[in-house]
Amino acid sequence: MFYVIPRTFAIIRSKGKYLMELKELGRTGVKIAEIGLGTWRYKGGVEPLRKGIELGATLIDTAEGYYTEDVVGEAVSGVREKVFIATKVSGRHLAYDDLLQSAEESLYKLGTDYIDLYQIHWPNYTYPIRETMRAMGELVDRGLARFIGVSNFDIDEMEEAQSFLNNYPIVSNQVRYNLNDRSIERDLLPYCEERDITIFAYTPLDDGNLAKKPGLINSNRMRTLDEISQETGKTMGQIAINWCTSRKNVVAIPKSNSVERTIENCKSSGWRLTAEQISRLDESF
Ligand SMILES: NC(=O)c1ccc[n+]([C@@H]2O[C@H](COP(=O)([O-])OP(=O)(O)OC[C@H]3O[C@@H](n4cnc5c(N)ncnc54)[C@H](OP(=O)(O)O)[C@@H]3O)[C@@H](O)[C@H]2O)c1
Repeated sequence: MFYVIPRTFAIIRSKGKYLMELKELGRTGVKIAEIGLGTWRYKGGVEPLRKGIELGATLIDTAEGYYTEDVVGEAVSGVREKVFIATKVSGRHLAYDDLLQSAEESLYKLGTDYIDLYQIHWPNYTYPIRETMRAMGELVDRGLARFIGVSNFDIDEMEEAQSFLNNYPIVSNQVRYNLNDRSIERDLLPYCEERDITIFAYTPLDDGNLAKKPGLINSNRMRTLDEISQETGKTMGQIAINWCTSRKNVVAIPKSNSVERTIENCKSSGWRLTAEQISRLDESF
């Protein structure tokens, strides 16, 4: 059952328990889970992905370059309509014909006839961006992709890409964002926030470094994370993910090969750090 709370937020509720908060993707009116399932270097098979979907993490991030589109396809088989699939074309396939072919191959591997969000993985100046965006627009025209996103683009690159896309907005930018790497806060995050462009925070656990167990706390930063973990009864990883999603337009896509850690990561949603806890983290990191 969905409860719509102002414009960008909704919460999936199950048996009286909040499980997963939703956020609007760009200005599309479409709501996506604020915690998704990342699949770079993913080797967990279908079970962690299926468990994540069951817990409301109905957003899955993959890429042609990850070689995980086939396992994602397997995991969503039978529940495709419930899942929002984000995949990416590699930076070396940005020529018009190559991009269309990459999309066709992704569709085949995913076992679906549409991609929810098709993202350009990395900018690549070898290929004229005008041609790349023409191909992206064509995919939407043909119903093969619903929305267009980018990844690892700076503001100038986003603006240039958008200028060649007449009929569709760029709805998202997937970039590295975690407590240890806050560089997007300088300009990209506010730029996207002002325009309601969704940030997909990748590596939200800093590759697991922010989810270390209390015995391994060896810095002021990690001590703050540990303190807040103790106060809230949440794990350090959950605090790190919730900190990312406390930003209005940010969703996070942690990756885990294990069912147990996927459950833990999903349960980073459905509650909020207090403003005081967020500012303590902001000051420490
Ligand atoms: N667009 C891009 O250029 C780009 C770049 C990098 C990543 N991404 C996307 O972002 C996703 C996530 O980023 P990431 O994989 O780099 O890093 P991450 O999610 O920050 O960290 C993944 C690492 O943390 C461990 N981990 C996960 N949950 C944990 C938990 N609750 N407690 C302890 N350890 C935990 C994982 O181990 P186990 O698997 O063994 O649990 C894995 O070693 C990727 O899978 C991909 O979809 C995109």
